[in-house]
Amino acid sequence: MSVLIKNGRIITAADDYVADIYIEGESIAQIGKNLDVNADTVIDASGKLVMPGGIDPHVHLDMPFMGTYSSDNYETGTRAALFGGTTTVIDFILQTQGKSLQSALNEWKGRSDNNAVGDYSFHMAVTDFNEETKKEIQHFIENEGITSFKTFMAYKGALMIDDRQMIGLQEEVKKHGGLINVHATNGDMIDYLIAKHKAEGKLSPLYHYLSQPEVTEAEASERFVDMINYTGCPGYIVHLTCEGALNAVRNATRRNQNVFVETCIQYLLLDASLYEQNFEGAKWVMSPPLREKKDQETLWAGLNQGMVQVVATDHCPFMWEQKLMGKDDFSKIPNGHPAIENRMELLFSEGVNKGRITLNKYVEVASTNAAKIFGMFPKKGTIAVGSDADIILIDANEKHTISAKTHHMNVDYSGYEGWELTGKIKTVLLRGQVVIDNNECKAQKGYGKFVKRNKVQGKI
Ligand code: URP
Ligand code: ZN
Ligand code: ZN
Repeated sequence: MSVLIKNGRIITAADDYVADIYIEGESIAQIGKNLDVNADTVIDASGKLVMPGGIDPHVHLDMPFMGTYSSDNYETGTRAALFGGTTTVIDFILQTQGKSLQSALNEWKGRSDNNAVGDYSFHMAVTDFNEETKKEIQHFIENEGITSFKTFMAYKGALMIDDRQMIGLQEEVKKHGGLINVHATNGDMIDYLIAKHKAEGKLSPLYHYLSQPEVTEAEASERFVDMINYTGCPGYIVHLTCEGALNAVRNATRRNQNVFVETCIQYLLLDASLYEQNFEGAKWVMSPPLREKKDQETLWAGLNQGMVQVVATDHCPFMWEQKLMGKDDFSKIPNGHPAIENRMELLFSEGVNKGRITLNKYVEVASTNAAKIFGMFPKKGTIAVGSDADIILIDANEKHTISAKTHHMNVDYSGYEGWELTGKIKTVLLRGQVVIDNNECKAQKGYGKFVKRNKVQGKI
């Protein structure tokens, strides 16, 4: 099968030019002006922006968490991602404390194999680092193509590791060419504040926010960057939300330290005032919580300064019924919010169309940097000869409105209900197949492939 995309305005992290793209099978075969080729399918991209497919390196699909499962599985989640222009996601496997990494991988494969519509990969969350787990790291990096290891500095008793385990894991991961992801918040401080608020009868979603003040994230981020400075292991802070945490990273760079930072679309666009309504605020109960307007300014600036390299989602949806588990106690509300389908269009509308970031920056933070950081570049994350033909076509001027009535995520509300956006993803190709066209998904469950990743460079 071959596809010719004609006359599009091609945007990569570095380039902006009009040309044709010729695709043979799963990858890009030629790029040039007025290509003289015959193709099975011809797509007229005149007037459209043509960009690499989005990469969301932070999603939780079908994940057991807080006594329930996130409500999008690999089929519904990756399909919704495709509708929103994200062609590859990286999901998190969670080790069960006391069990091996391999048993966790087997469990996750049981849910993901043959179910995804879009491409996916895995990070491995190490929740119990010991002499046995240590022996498994090299195998994961060299044979499984899982080269990033998630650590939690919070969620004590289930996911959190202590600093002793953290240092040991970093040394082992560095030795074999991997990277450490971190949920950087001070779990003990948060647990203290949760218990205090509950003892005082403060049980509404607002107290989820007040139990995780900025200092809990700033302190843990600083501790983490100090630890990776000591071990020399490449590090990536997931879902960074605030000025205090970004300043910890900024300070670390003054000693020429390398560390990567991800924020999520919600932290750029939403703020903590959403918690000031009764239980409705549960829609945005996530960890870390939404912050202040000044933090949004910091994050947009951080993108333009190159201090924040990735905009992800931390997509972790729960049905309203599931959120109601915490009706009388904010600490029982499953943490997470849905955005896998909305990230690319929200960032385009609020970022590019409102003049906050350039088109090239958009591609960089929504696709290219994640591919580079996590060992998928140049197979994923760019438009170049030899790369996978993961391509999106955007109409930069088309207006549309977000609603749970029309989205494709398996969740019965939207955190962005009624938001009017400018810029619509019209066509999506994944490995040379048109998977989204005219608001219709053309790919079946099972089309999505697991992406084996390379050792990381620790640099982009
Ligand atoms: O609230 C969140 N973020 N839920 C998913 C788990 C995590 O901490 O990333
Ligand atoms: Zn987290
Ligand atoms: Zn997460």
